[in-house]
Amino acid sequence: MAGRDKKKQCDIGLIGLGVMGSNFVLNMADHGFSVAGYNRKEDKIRQLSELKSAHHKIETTQDIHAFCQMLRKPRAIILLVPAGPPVDAVIESLLPYLEAGDLIIDSGNSHFTDTDRRVQFLEDKGLRFLGMGISGGESGARHGPSLMPGGSAQGYERVKPILEAAAAQVSGAPCVAYLGPGSAGHYVKMVHNGIEYGVMQLISEAYDLMHRGLGMSPAELHTVFARWNQAELNSYLIEITADIFLQTDDQTGKPLVDQILDEAKQKGTGEWTVGEALNLQIPAFTLGAAVMMRDMSADKHQREKAGQLLKGPSPQLEGKRDEILHQIKSALHAAMIITYAQGLSLLDKASDRYHYHLNPETVARIWRGGCIIRAALLEEIRSAYLSNPTLENLLFDGHLGRAVVAQQADLREVVRFGATLGLPMPGLMTALSYLDALRSGWLPANLIMAQRDYFGAHTYERVDKKGIFHTQWAKR
Ligand code: 6PG
Repeated sequence: MAGRDKKKQCDIGLIGLGVMGSNFVLNMADHGFSVAGYNRKEDKIRQLSELKSAHHKIETTQDIHAFCQMLRKPRAIILLVPAGPPVDAVIESLLPYLEAGDLIIDSGNSHFTDTDRRVQFLEDKGLRFLGMGISGGESGARHGPSLMPGGSAQGYERVKPILEAAAAQVSGAPCVAYLGPGSAGHYVKMVHNGIEYGVMQLISEAYDLMHRGLGMSPAELHTVFARWNQAELNSYLIEITADIFLQTDDQTGKPLVDQILDEAKQKGTGEWTVGEALNLQIPAFTLGAAVMMRDMSADKHQREKAGQLLKGPSPQLEGKRDEILHQIKSALHAAMIITYAQGLSLLDKASDRYHYHLNPETVARIWRGGCIIRAALLEEIRSAYLSNPTLENLLFDGHLGRAVVAQQADLREVVRFGATLGLPMPGLMTALSYLDALRSGWLPANLIMAQRDYFGAHTYERVDKKGIFHTQWAKR
């Protein structure tokens, strides 16, 4: 194909015209950028062509060489293809047609170690690479996601105007920022998803208490969650939860939520987050509980069998409904703050370990809009880091710490409800235990050290003098 007229070359290209890719192409085109789209399958090309408007400067092709020739230099290409080998395959297919200084942006949910490998591989070839988390689903991609890029700073400058235009906007600021070198962006997206799992688990436990405990109908649950979304719990996940309880099943005419099988699936980003928390020794209790509750939910047959074998208390919760609902709302708010604190502690440790130089205020700022965990709370979290950029733990912030302390009685009472009624609440319970463990100047770890030394001579330290000690424990 002969070289194209420079004036007609596209500002940016995107490979992978699936739901996310085609919507992000339309979003960028909405903001006046000329976009080239590539997909191997003709039907994806046709679907995008049917969606685009006359004013959109969008070109499409099924030919990867022609695609590269459509792009102005240095080229910028976004990949929105499934994480894993498909990303490497697409990169390999591009290499023959790229030149030094061209930029590839992987916007899938790639594991951060894959991103580190790709950064090195492409930099060795004179190419630039960004690993960019994109959050907000189909609607976010179309109308404004939160974007979390990391990797080549020069590469980011090439696409900054486009990303800032396409990202969600909050108070006039785009929900995108260069986060740091290497896999910084994909790591932040991974932790975003870990927090997402945690908050979704907390909301499900509140739902369980109101559903099985108080016997509330979906219509009543909609009213409560819609009301909660007007105050301190204001967030995307609370908003969609309220909507979900209004949805009628078109096959039975019943509330759809009651027709959905109670086995949670997961693509793995929450598991990655918890694996990293273990690797970096960050006690992300609630993030771990959320992943494992998805695992527990996955075997409904075993749970039905256990329910016959292992009898427990009746889940009916007696009491003044309005008072109990206030306690649940308060407990949920405190537990959400504690869950964000766990995720941000992991980011802080990872930033040191992997030299990301993350700025937590920047992370909170770009999470305020577009992403799944967007919440009014993030404005307060951002303020916390603006006031103290080196905040050791989010709960040490005066405002948020006081909020959790003020609401701990409600969190304790709601956890008591769960324990008393036999309703599983590992999210709320671990949030409370995280708070109690964090604020304990003394923990019973001395006994664990004594046990380790007793059975394995693993030694211990003393409170009254420095050194490493071992005792020949008297066998009684
Ligand atoms: C987002 C979401 C998204 C996530 C899917 C599936 O930020 O838009 O986090 O990236 O991958 O919602 O997530 P799970 O299957 O892991 O629940």
